[in-house]
Amino acid sequence: MKRIIVTIFILILFVVISGGNVCAQEKDMGKTLIVYYSLSGNTLAGCEVLQKGLEADLLEIRDLKNRSGKWGFLCAAFGSLFGRLTRIDPENPDMSGYENIIIASPIWTGKLSIAIRTFIDRNRFDKKKVILYTTTNAAEKEKYKEKNRNLVREKGGEVVGYFQILARKIVDDEKILRTIDEIRLRP
Ligand SMILES: Cc1cc2nc3c(=O)[nH]c(=O)nc-3n(C[C@H](O)[C@H](O)[C@H](O)COP(=O)(O)O)c2cc1C
Repeated sequence: MKRIIVTIFILILFVVISGGNVCAQEKDMGKTLIVYYSLSGNTLAGCEVLQKGLEADLLEIRDLKNRSGKWGFLCAAFGSLFGRLTRIDPENPDMSGYENIIIASPIWTGKLSIAIRTFIDRNRFDKKKVILYTTTNAAEKEKYKEKNRNLVREKGGEVVGYFQILARKIVDDEKILRTIDEIRLRP
């Protein structure tokens, strides 16, 4: 079942990126860069699967602020809540060789993570097809997704897709965190 879901997920990405013509994908799709931030590894796990499936390049955005431990969590939660930005590395990666950018982020207090919001804020995405991919505990409401799409649109990008992986599942009415291996669904 997992294999089927992931295969469908990657096929949808192919179709979206290639403008609906899967056969023309290899010729016309252009290069894809996956830009990600991941604090606890969930987002990265999904990105690694995507990287393999799409033969894309992978670029980590590092948050230069220490987010570890309880204090790190609190700063992350409050910083995110109040829309703060941070120092990241790299700040302005060279994306000139890529037509498609997948921006991957955990969701923090209903928003893209601080590092990824900073990355979007500091760069332009003109003429790029952008897909947002998030990992969350609870599914994002459409109005929050739209806010995230608008961040990219304001920077010139065309948002052609939005995908989520849930890091939590419900078993016997109990909310349980998925393991990294469960998130890293192998096609
Ligand atoms: C500071 C902070 C705030 C979070 N806020 C939310 C939230 O508002 N909604 C949600 O569904 N998950 C929230 N989460 C959970 C993460 O989105 C989820 O665990 C995600 O898969 C983590 O991805 P990562 O392992 O790549 O960092 C939050 C996590 C952190 C650390």
